[in-house]
Parts: sequence; structure tokens; C-alpha cells
Amino acid sequence: MVVTADPAGMPPVRAAAPAIILSDVMRVFREADIETIALRGIDLEIPAGEFVAIMGRSGSGKSTLLQLLAGSDRPTAGRVVVDGLDLSRADERERAALRGRHVGIVFQSGNLVPFLDLEENVRLAAELAGRPIDRAAARVSLAGVGLDGREHRRPTQLSGGEQQRAALAAVLATTPRIILADEVTGELDSSTARQLLDLIGRVHRDARMTLLLATHDPNVAERADRVLELRDGRIVSERRPR
Ligand SMILES: Nc1ncnc2c1ncn2[C@@H]1O[C@H](COP(=O)(O)OP(=O)(O)O)[C@@H](O)[C@H]1O
Ligand SMILES: [Mg+2]
Repeated sequence: MVVTADPAGMPPVRAAAPAIILSDVMRVFREADIETIALRGIDLEIPAGEFVAIMGRSGSGKSTLLQLLAGSDRPTAGRVVVDGLDLSRADERERAALRGRHVGIVFQSGNLVPFLDLEENVRLAAELAGRPIDRAAARVSLAGVGLDGREHRRPTQLSGGEQQRAALAAVLATTPRIILADEVTGELDSSTARQLLDLIGRVHRDARMTLLLATHDPNVAERADRVLELRDGRIVSERRPR
């Protein structure tokens, strides 16, 4: 870790601090007398700006991992640090603040409010993150994902691919430092999926945020800086496609 002193006498800034640190993370679900070990000892460091694809078949623990990073769930054991905040210790207020300010989440089923049009959805997302934007800025965000002219449609008046792009625009409008995406191409046909991935790849390059994408799709993996494979709650392989 590089520590540089600021000439203006500010406290030292830690450069290239990891965006995400997981150490020996376990997540066990207990329902009645059934115990499911969803994550069993995950160790992982992700530097700021990295694009990581998390592969693995259904049930391997991908969504559980993303939920922990999003601060919407807690590990049974181990440490989860996101953007400098130790989520395994943080209280609900701190975790909510992290979700609002730094971490954007895109789910498979989209995260749009059905009775608001796209412009309103994008503005709402930005407002909830504490950074309200005006209509023009919302339109810029929508145009950035190829949805210019669709501002006044509701999510139900869009195709699946358009809904995912709109969800991405809403998340980007919050200018997150970290984006977590869970199977966002899961319900799309292959050419629409490819377009969405091109878009996500471009956004990642332009905005230089940290990006974690859980996916079944091997095409995603080829665009990532690093590909992790989960099996039964463990990281069983790691490679760098480029
Ligand atoms: N809320 C829950 N309650 C009980 N078991 C769960 C819960 N969430 C996930 N699991 C179990 O944990 C394991 C990992 O699930 P998940 O993280 O959703 O996998 P993936 O996203 O890779 O398909 C699975 O066996 C799943 O059934
Ligand atoms: Mg999942």
C-alpha cells in the first residue's frame, strides 16, 4: 500500500486501497433444522477499479456474496470491508449509508419503480443516494445507455434489455464507486445480452469504478480483468483473461 503525504498538510492519503476485502467469510443459513453453508471461507481482495466476474453454477454462493458486499446481509463469520467500512461491525445506519453513497446494485429483475417513467426512475435513484439531479441530467444518463427518446416510458413499456439498460442508467446516476450486478443478462437473448455487456464494459472503462458481476455467461468473463469461479461456497479457481 502506498502512503503519500499531502503537501497541503492534510492527513496522508492511502492510494490504491482495496475497494473490497473479504477475509475468511462464512455465511450459514439455518432454517428449522436445515443448515446450508452458502459461503465457506472466502478470502478475496479487489483493488479499486477492477472488473471481476464471479462465475459458478446455480447455488454456488454468488448472490450471497453480493448481498454481503451490498450490506444487505451479514456474514456468519469473517470480515467484509467495502470502501473502507467494516460491514461485519457496522450498524444498520452505517450500512444503509454505504448502500446509498458508494455502492450501486443491479439485479436480474431490474430495480425500477413500475409506476414511474424512466426519467423519474433515474431521478429517484439519484435522490435516494443523496445526490439529486435535474431532468436534463437524467436524460443524459438515459442517453448514455442508448435510451434517448424513451424518457417518458414506464418500465413495463420496454423490452427486457431496455429495462436492464434503464436500471443501469439509474444506478450510474448515483455515481457509485462500486457496482454489484447479479445475473443482469440472465433473462436476455444472446444478442441483447452482448449489447448490455458491451455497455457495461464501456461504462466500467469510462467511469473507472469497481465492478463485480455475477454471471453464468462465459462471454462476460472474457471482458473481465479477473474471473473467479465459485463452487459450493468456495473460490476454486481464478484467472485473468487478458
Ligand atoms: N435466504 C436463504 N435461506 C436459506 N438458504 C439460502 C438463502 N439464500 C441462499 N441460500 C442457499 O445458499 C446457497 C447459495 O445460494 P446463492 O448465493 O443464491 O447461489 P447462486 O447465486 O450462486 O445461485 C444455495 O444452497 C441456496 O439454496
Ligand atoms: Mg444467484
